[in-house]
Amino acid sequence: MPNILLVGNGAREHALAEAISRSEQKPRLFSFMKTNNPGIASLSEKIKLGSYADLEAITGFAVENKIEFVVIGPEDPLNNGVVDALAKIGVPSVGPTKSLARLETSKSFTRNLVSKYHIPGNPQFKVFNTIDGVEAFLDQLEGIVIKPDGLTGGKGVLVQDDHFTTKEEALQLCLQILKESSSLIVEEKFDGEEFSLQCLCDGKTVIATPLVQDHKRRFEGDKGPNTGGMGSYSLPDHSMPFLKPQDLEDGLEITRQVAAALLKETGSPYKGVMYGGFIATKNGVKLLEYNARFGDPEAMNILPLLKTDFVEICRHIVAGTLDKLKIEFEPKATVCKYVVPKDYGLPADHSDAASSRAKIEVGDVGKARLYYSSVDKKEDGLYLSSSRAIGIVGIANTLEEARKIAEEGVKAVKGPVAYRTDIGTDALIQKRIDHMRKIRKE
Ligand code: GLY
Repeated sequence: MPNILLVGNGAREHALAEAISRSEQKPRLFSFMKTNNPGIASLSEKIKLGSYADLEAITGFAVENKIEFVVIGPEDPLNNGVVDALAKIGVPSVGPTKSLARLETSKSFTRNLVSKYHIPGNPQFKVFNTIDGVEAFLDQLEGIVIKPDGLTGGKGVLVQDDHFTTKEEALQLCLQILKESSSLIVEEKFDGEEFSLQCLCDGKTVIATPLVQDHKRRFEGDKGPNTGGMGSYSLPDHSMPFLKPQDLEDGLEITRQVAAALLKETGSPYKGVMYGGFIATKNGVKLLEYNARFGDPEAMNILPLLKTDFVEICRHIVAGTLDKLKIEFEPKATVCKYVVPKDYGLPADHSDAASSRAKIEVGDVGKARLYYSSVDKKEDGLYLSSSRAIGIVGIANTLEEARKIAEEGVKAVKGPVAYRTDIGTDALIQKRIDHMRKIRKE
């Protein structure tokens, strides 16, 4: 019976806790969380609450409980060097070291790496430490994207026509960012359809998991502010309806080359998840960014589909033997809908402060699966926080069935909450297909 430590407290980690608990190895799960996630707690033998910056508390908890390996969910502990601290006391992790996690934590590191090793997928880009040259580069671009060079919780990227309109505004935003951040990246904007390719990597072997499409915008029809992700879907063929088979191959090949480049550049194998945010464009697949972890909500789409024992997968990642393991997923469709406080993602002047701390009731979600995210379990019940509250996932043979299961499940959450009704609908998916056809001039 292996003792496994999970670090993280969101719905992604609830799905990881479930995948670990399902293992035939009968693992004992120990969880280190920032806040008490009732779903993870219910699956854990023991929990410890603390900060992801408190490396001593995490390593101490690992030693105390004779942990075989640690699974790191979110990016913050990776950025804080938790994997390095655990390695020092001889405990391996599924998650990259601080240096390798720059794949996510430093956008300039990744753009420069891809460029240095002549890997396809980069946009035209330049990294700036001062405002010198920014204006001239902005003049060269048709469409502009501005990224602060650090962790932004998925919300710091500024895109022309979404967050600003003119080059003058772009310049002002760059000046503002450089006051707070030591560097920024200016990139060419792509037109296309985005998809998430989450790959498992042991440093040498890179294995694709089913493709997922996330929905970042807060409201139906992809309107409103960007969020951490309002929900996502995946299909039984593990691809996306707007992609050509070559697109998946291209995304995977880019990721394989990046894993090899990371090994060459740092001398250390990347062990964990390489989650590529890709976009299919008229000129093929392009790389938007990498994350050094599973996606949230995307983890909830793929982990429940695993036919292969997740603990076995983790052991092979740690041992560097992923090439010896056949990893299989159920050929099913999934739809994940995030239930959020009504005012989630809205600017402070549009927010109803009462809704983000209100009590909620969770009834029977039927055939759906429920993953807790930011909820606060008090003695008298469950309360919302200001962030995404509960992920509800439908799994079925068809997308329509999966969507209906998720839709029914969502209705079981009562309180001042909201969700996107359009995720997984034929109409929204057709819109994506039509968009790609138009771009490809088909
Ligand atoms: N789905 C967005 C993220 O996990 O960053």
